[in-house]
Amino acid sequence: MAESNDKTDVMEAIISLCKRRGFIFQGSEIYGGLAGTWDYGPLGVALKNNIKNLWWRRFVDGRHDMFGVDAAILMNQNVWKASGHVSGFSDPLVECSKCKHRFRADQLAEAGKCPDCGGKVGEQKQFNMMFQTHVGAVQDESSISYLRPETAQGMFVNFKNILDTQHPRLPFGLAQIGKAFRNEIAPRDFLFRAREFEQMEIEYFVNPKEWEKSFEHFQQESKDFMADVGLDGSKVHELEVADGDRAHYSKRTIDFEFDFPFGRKELSGLAYRTDFDLKQHSESSKVDLSYYDEESKERFIPHCIEPSFGLDRMLLAVLTDAYKEDDLGGEKRTYLKLSPNVAPYKVAVFPLLRNKPVLVERAQQIFKAIKKEIPATTFDDNGNIGKRYRRQDEIGTPFCVTIDFDTIEKNPPAGGGVTVRDRDTGKQERVGEAELLDFLKQKVV
Ligand code: GAP
Repeated sequence: MAESNDKTDVMEAIISLCKRRGFIFQGSEIYGGLAGTWDYGPLGVALKNNIKNLWWRRFVDGRHDMFGVDAAILMNQNVWKASGHVSGFSDPLVECSKCKHRFRADQLAEAGKCPDCGGKVGEQKQFNMMFQTHVGAVQDESSISYLRPETAQGMFVNFKNILDTQHPRLPFGLAQIGKAFRNEIAPRDFLFRAREFEQMEIEYFVNPKEWEKSFEHFQQESKDFMADVGLDGSKVHELEVADGDRAHYSKRTIDFEFDFPFGRKELSGLAYRTDFDLKQHSESSKVDLSYYDEESKERFIPHCIEPSFGLDRMLLAVLTDAYKEDDLGGEKRTYLKLSPNVAPYKVAVFPLLRNKPVLVERAQQIFKAIKKEIPATTFDDNGNIGKRYRRQDEIGTPFCVTIDFDTIEKNPPAGGGVTVRDRDTGKQERVGEAELLDFLKQKVV
């Protein structure tokens, strides 16, 4: 019991830190919120962009066989008919006969019993999770569209455009980062299960004879990406998804699970989607989506390997992994042990005292020089130095540079320089001004 309380406390502490420091707010907060939606503030955006950029660097810019796309969220309804989402993208729903509350049937603590009032729940129905809307002024069957529940289909329907414009040879992939929407019956656990979220997905097209090689390649790449964002590898686990539990399009799926404070849960997925999607779209649109292999003189529909990452879920894993409480100098403190790769700010620069113009001026000069080379650098002269350190610890800034009287009054080699404080140990070392930029760049760039 104590353990589960601790876990709830940790999540509450993280959600509260996120709000207090401007990472993440409840969506539509001043109107009482909208369940399953979250708004990112300045530090949350910075953290999210850093994760996105690492992903793009590893999977797109760092390779020769990947093409970026950014497809529209709204698509022709036939896309979702062909992909199987209109008929099959649903969760099992039950309604309490007494209080009328609705639940996911597979998440009831006690089968058949309402967790809110103890009443008997009715028969299970399938609830389609796509948000439906109408495009244009007429609201009838023909104007139905959906907010996409996965970014993947935007890549399948552009397969021919990429073939015709980029002329790639197999194997090659399309990569996309963008919003996805699911009308989850029970959004929960902060960013973990939201109704609006972002995905980072790859559809990697291969000759069916060689799918295993690419599958294994992306299995390793997925783990390497998790190391890029600084996740503790011992909290990441691979789960071979059994026959019958996989999505309708997949012949093999590995879920990467993570030890969140609320349990071991899916973080990202890797699926072998075969030729399911291209075949469906080819048949449904009557557009040929086959590929001609110059070497073997064969024409076939390529098969697809799909590494799929939830960006917000990845960010939540990073936050929960980084959240630490310890004692420093006899005081309890909270800090985010974020990798410099993802920390919103890599460096913070302070004058020791805010009411000494000579210190402030010099600190600003040094700040500007660092910021030119390390853009994610911030200046802070609010409150006393102790408060500034606490604030920077809480937002995960790895290094704080303080300009004090020695910086001004003494000259090297006897004095001068600034102090650089390490977030994790709280230790400070004196670094000469001439060496400062190289010192910091070595640690954070
Ligand atoms: N294109 C394949 C696909 O969408 P998925 O397993 O349904 O597969 C991929 O979703 C990833 O998207 C998940 O591993 C998770 O990281 C993220 N995701 C899915 N539903 C989510 C939700 N309701 N809230 C936040 N992230 C979600």
